[in-house]
Amino acid sequence: MKFITPIIALASLVASCGSPGPLVVRPGEPWPDDQGVHVNAHGGGILHHDNTYYWFGEHKGERSSAAWVGVTCYSSKNLVDWTNEGVALPVSTDTLSDIRAGCVLERPKVIHNKKTGKFVMYFHLELFRQGYAAARVGIAVSDRPAGPYTFLGSCRPCAGYWPVNMTEEQQKATVTPADFPNWWTDEWRQATNDGMFTRRDFAGGQMSRDMTLYVDDDGKAYHIYASEENLTLHVAELADDYLSHTGKYARIAPGGHNEAPAIFKRKGRYFLITSGCTGWEPNAARLYTAESIWGPWTEHPNPCVGEDARLTFRSQGTFILPVPGKRDAFLFMADRWTPRLPINARYIWLPIRFENDLPVLQWHDQWDLNEAFR
Ligand code: DGJ
Repeated sequence: MKFITPIIALASLVASCGSPGPLVVRPGEPWPDDQGVHVNAHGGGILHHDNTYYWFGEHKGERSSAAWVGVTCYSSKNLVDWTNEGVALPVSTDTLSDIRAGCVLERPKVIHNKKTGKFVMYFHLELFRQGYAAARVGIAVSDRPAGPYTFLGSCRPCAGYWPVNMTEEQQKATVTPADFPNWWTDEWRQATNDGMFTRRDFAGGQMSRDMTLYVDDDGKAYHIYASEENLTLHVAELADDYLSHTGKYARIAPGGHNEAPAIFKRKGRYFLITSGCTGWEPNAARLYTAESIWGPWTEHPNPCVGEDARLTFRSQGTFILPVPGKRDAFLFMADRWTPRLPINARYIWLPIRFENDLPVLQWHDQWDLNEAFR
C-alpha cells in the first residue's frame, strides 16, 4: 500500500495539470460527455473559475427548441473532457413563473463577481407561448459555479434611460414605427438609425434577445444584447453586484440587424463578432472593433475565410473564451443548429488567429488545443 500512494498522487497531479498530449477538438462532430452522451449545452458560454472550466448552455430536446429542462452545466479541466454537472437552473413547474417549463430560454452566460463572491447568470427569456415577443433578460444567482442557481426575475433593461450615444434631437423626435406601413424603406431606415424603436421602448425598457456578458479588466461587467426588434445591439453597464443594470447603455451599429454577439478584448481593443438575423439558418459573421466599449464601433469584413466562410462554417457564434494563462489565445464557440432535431445541434469551436491585428477564423476538421494555444 505504501507504494501506491505516491503513484496515485502523481497520476492525479498529471490529471489536474491537463494532458501533455494532444487535446483534440473536432468541430461539428458529436461531443460525448463523461457518460458518452453528446453535450447538451447550446448557445452556451464558459466560465473559468479555480482552474476549472464551466460550460453553461441551453438544454435542447428531440422535437422542441423550447426550454423544458433549463440551463445545463458541464465542467472540465482541459476544455475537451466534459463532466455533466446536471441542471444549473431548472425551468419552473409554477405556471406563474417567468421561467415556466416551455418558455424560451436561450444563450445563458455566467460571470463571477469577485466582490460579492456570487456567480451571476443572464439569459435571453421569452415567456411561455408568446413566441419571441417578450424579448426579456432573465437573471439568476448562485454561491457555487455549477449551481443550483436561484432565479431572481426578468426584465426589459434600462427602462427610463436614454443611451449615451443618442442625441437630444433623436430623443425628442416624434416619428413612431406606426408611421411606417412598410419596413426597410429609406425613411424607415433613417428613423430606425435615429432611435425610433429606442424611443418606443423608453418607458417599458429596451428589448433584449440574443446576448452575452463581459467582465472588463477593471471588474465592471456589461450585458450586450440584440435590441430594437433585433435591429440594433445595445451594450449596458451592470451594477457593482452584477444583479441589475445601472441604466448606462449605448447603441451599437444602429439598424445593422445583428444578433449572436460575442466579445473579447486584445491589446486594449474590443472585438465583437456577431451574426445577421436569419433564424436558425446560418449567415455570414460580422466583425466590429472599438477602443472603448461605449464605441464608436467600426465594422470590418467577415472574419471567416475559406469554404463556407459566408455561412460562418454553417454555424452561429455564441461566445469567445480568452484561454487563461495564454497570450493571444482566443477560442471562438458557435452552434450549428439543427432545428428539426434540436438536441443534435453541433458545436463549432475554432481557434482565432490574428492578421494585421484583426481576428481570422478558418475551418479545421480537427485541431489540437495544445498546439493552437501554446
Ligand atoms: C437566432 C438566435 O441567435 C437563436 O438564439 C435563436 O433565437 C433563433 N434565432 C430562433 O430562431
